Amino acid sequence: MSRIQPPDFGELSPDISDVLFTAEQIQARVNALAAEISAEYRDKNPVLVGVLKGVLFFMADLLKALPIAAEVDFLSVANYSTDSRSQGLVRLVKDLETPIEGRHILFVEDVIDTGLTLNYLLRTLRARQPASLEVCVLFNKPDKRLIDIPLRFKGFDIPDRFVVGYGLDFREKYRNLPYVGSLKPSVISLKSGK
Ligand code: IMP
Ligand code: MG
Repeated sequence: MSRIQPPDFGELSPDISDVLFTAEQIQARVNALAAEISAEYRDKNPVLVGVLKGVLFFMADLLKALPIAAEVDFLSVANYSTDSRSQGLVRLVKDLETPIEGRHILFVEDVIDTGLTLNYLLRTLRARQPASLEVCVLFNKPDKRLIDIPLRFKGFDIPDRFVVGYGLDFREKYRNLPYVGSLKPSVISLKSGK
């Protein structure tokens, strides 16, 4: 893992201990993923489905690098509580606007940890009988995976560390960092947990 000093990003920089991926590294990987996806989905007019809000940057950069016809839609979830989250109970706060029956669906995720959230959402979408349903994830954390989910397109495997930036937050903060980095332990323990 690289130990690059965080580039200056104003008042957020002092909270970051080290950079896992620079904006340039992320962009290069996203472009490569877009090329893979384009080859697979040409003439299929897929619907790229993202979960708000963490996927914001990834979805935007992926779409901009995708030279095929594609649609985009979003859903939003809330975890019931820290406890029930461990059972994968999530509530759909905002549903898709697109009817997905018979459509090719590419589920675009920023980060997968246990896989419980994604598993619930995939089951929900599968019940609507899409023509196909695949997953594209940018940051995969394999260490704490509880449910095996096939990941058709994958950006990076990352260690079991809490990371922020490029859309990922800690208590709604740090999403706007252009790179992905780890928070200093002192910052996390001050506010305890996510
Ligand atoms: P899972 O159900 O354990 O896979 O949880 C995935 C969700 O937890 C993601 O959609 C994020 O909202 C959040 N999450 C997991 N790891 C991180 C991280 O390192 N940074 C920010 N959010 C994370
Ligand atoms: Mg997410």
